Amino acid sequence: LTVRAGSYADELVKTAKTIASPGRGILAMDESNATCGKRLASIGLENTEANRQAYRTLLVTVPGLGNYVSGAILFEETLYQSTVDGKKMVDVLVEQKVVPGIKVDKGLVPLAGSNDESWCQGLDGLASRSAAYYQQGARFAKWRTVVSIPNGPSALAVKEAAWGLARYAAISQENGLVPIVEPEILLDGEHGIERTFEVAQKVWAEVFYYLAENNVMFEGILLKPSMVTPGAECKDRATPEQVAEYTLKLLHRRIPPAVPGIMFLSGGQSEVEATLNLNAMNQSPTPWHVSFSYARALQNTCLKTWGGRPENVQAAQETLLIRAKANSLAQLGKYTG
Ligand code: 13P
Repeated sequence: LTVRAGSYADELVKTAKTIASPGRGILAMDESNATCGKRLASIGLENTEANRQAYRTLLVTVPGLGNYVSGAILFEETLYQSTVDGKKMVDVLVEQKVVPGIKVDKGLVPLAGSNDESWCQGLDGLASRSAAYYQQGARFAKWRTVVSIPNGPSALAVKEAAWGLARYAAISQENGLVPIVEPEILLDGEHGIERTFEVAQKVWAEVFYYLAENNVMFEGILLKPSMVTPGAECKDRATPEQVAEYTLKLLHRRIPPAVPGIMFLSGGQSEVEATLNLNAMNQSPTPWHVSFSYARALQNTCLKTWGGRPENVQAAQETLLIRAKANSLAQLGKYTG
């Protein structure tokens, strides 16, 4: 057992297990200010701090959230923010039995020397930022990098993505944060499911190669993969059973059983599709907790229902709870629609 996670090793294992607890998953609400602005624009709201605060307050105060949600990923602004009633968002989450997490990457920029691909920034100063986030109450972290199938992916882009994730994971563990390792393989493209499977195998092989090289403790990480699906523009669609078959085959081939939890992103799938796919994956036993870390597939209806109106807050919260409960059942393999 490689334990180089400093003095935090036991706590990291405990945090990861708490997040990967039966019937629960992660609410991703860590949209950057730019992305949050797009979501607010879709309901005709301006991208002001007050509007972001109102929306995030709605999310963290959903009654009973902790029954289905074990962790919430926050953007830096929210980690330091209070609700509209003046309580720290982090304290509200802890009272709800939801572990606060923090997006620590600094976003994507063009990768020089590649085929129009990108890489993820944020390693500079990451150790001191992580220590500050821990002080502020965060117990896990997220770093999202992307791999594009239509643009390659080039060997360079895959290597850069894997190395960045591994450095981030090591730094997070040394500062007490459970790293969520997220190499998102984008849905865009006309390719079939076999091609996604091939690329995912390559990506996860490299990610685990560099995680091991960086002495990351596998018992204290969580993964956030894309499900293996056909490209968004592919004419051949896949059933939840096919998505589950390919995705589980990938996980069994590439992910050591020491990893406690696999928390999928929704990546542009519809709310129901994301639930059905997760449910299909939980029809047979696996060595890991197989669950969700959805943003759009938990929030879409909630955001629309709210529409920025105070009188709709309760109705919007109910729609979020419906999605959270559906995905909780899917985590247990018991969703029936
Ligand atoms: P989606 O579920 O909307 O893909 O977002 C999850 C996420 O956090 C992407 O990094």
